[in-house]
Amino acid sequence: MKSFDYLADRLDALAEQHRLRRLVPRNVMGASLLDASCDSLINFGGNDYLGLAANLTTAEIATGSTSSALVCGWTVLHEQLAQRLAVLESTEAAVLFPSGYAACSGTIATLAEPGDLILSDQLNHASLIDGCRLSAAECVVYPHRDFHFVADVLAKQRERFHRVWIVTDGVFSMDGHIAPLVELCDVADRFETHMVVDEAHGTGVLGRSGSGVCEALGVKHRVAIRIGTLSKAVGCQGGFVAGPKLVVDYLINRCRSLIFSTALAPAAVMASMTAIESFERESHRRVRVQRLARELRRRLSLRASCDLEASVPIVPIVLGDDRHTMEVSARLARAGYFVPAIRPPTVPPGTSRLRISLSALHTDAMLDGLIDTLSNLMKRSE
Ligand SMILES: Cc1ncc(COP(=O)(O)O)c(C=O)c1O
Repeated sequence: MKSFDYLADRLDALAEQHRLRRLVPRNVMGASLLDASCDSLINFGGNDYLGLAANLTTAEIATGSTSSALVCGWTVLHEQLAQRLAVLESTEAAVLFPSGYAACSGTIATLAEPGDLILSDQLNHASLIDGCRLSAAECVVYPHRDFHFVADVLAKQRERFHRVWIVTDGVFSMDGHIAPLVELCDVADRFETHMVVDEAHGTGVLGRSGSGVCEALGVKHRVAIRIGTLSKAVGCQGGFVAGPKLVVDYLINRCRSLIFSTALAPAAVMASMTAIESFERESHRRVRVQRLARELRRRLSLRASCDLEASVPIVPIVLGDDRHTMEVSARLARAGYFVPAIRPPTVPPGTSRLRISLSALHTDAMLDGLIDTLSNLMKRSE
């Protein structure tokens, strides 16, 4: 009765489907990584879009915050970073979370209450999905980017609900798609609903000041609540929510993933502040990574739905079959390129893919090499 053999059976089943995952020790160093056998590969797998993650901190700042933000884990540095993020996002206030996952899941779970409706994009990140699951509100998952569907649901059912929350990734993490935020904001205005956008892959990369996709699409003032992470283009760790002061104050008082978790480490706060100041000051990293993204799509003949989407540094190559995708990823690694294979349940069954992530650190030669290697591999597997 006490054995864990049933778990072994489940892991065996995953292995048979080519879906077993393992933690592999890798050492990321700028645009390269050392894999488990100490071979150096060019890294096309991380989310360090601006190349800021490998910056070394020189200041002597504490590594631990010792407690929850509400006890004594919130320092002057936390306060300064929160204010800086509110300025970046042009909101009244912002608050820091231990991770983007905690920010997304906690915010939705806290704000959407019984009697409310959440409309959530089918391809939203797991952290938003888990927020919907934790919330006591009703949830309708709408087909990916289908704002007509959202409008239809609201036309038929708006009156049944107290508040309605339209929840979407700004940039979809596994597809590099951009959410139709202008159209969703129009629907939100028509039916008096709140918009919540996860800017995880937009922050630092898109928009004139680098605040993300809401800025790039001109809807910053129409999306009241924006969630972000410090772990991707900011190159660090942690999450944040930016929005009206009332919302931020309410989260500070009620959001369990904020209250019942140790606050961000001061060292992470300091490093995030430095990174945000640098991308606000200089746009060259953002310009470079966007150029690489457009170039890669053009040379692989991959279509994007609009110019903005063509600049997103997440470029998936959908191969479909799990095993085949693993094999192509392994062959790329043998040729010196780390390009992760993404399989279900992270993506829908039948859509396993290579997910190429670009960084401002990639040189033109690195990109050329990846494209040549990929093209040769694809030709051979045809
Ligand atoms: C779209 C999206 N939202 C939220 C998160 C969670 O952020 P974090 O890694 O800081 O927990 C991620 C990270 O994978 C993401 O891709």
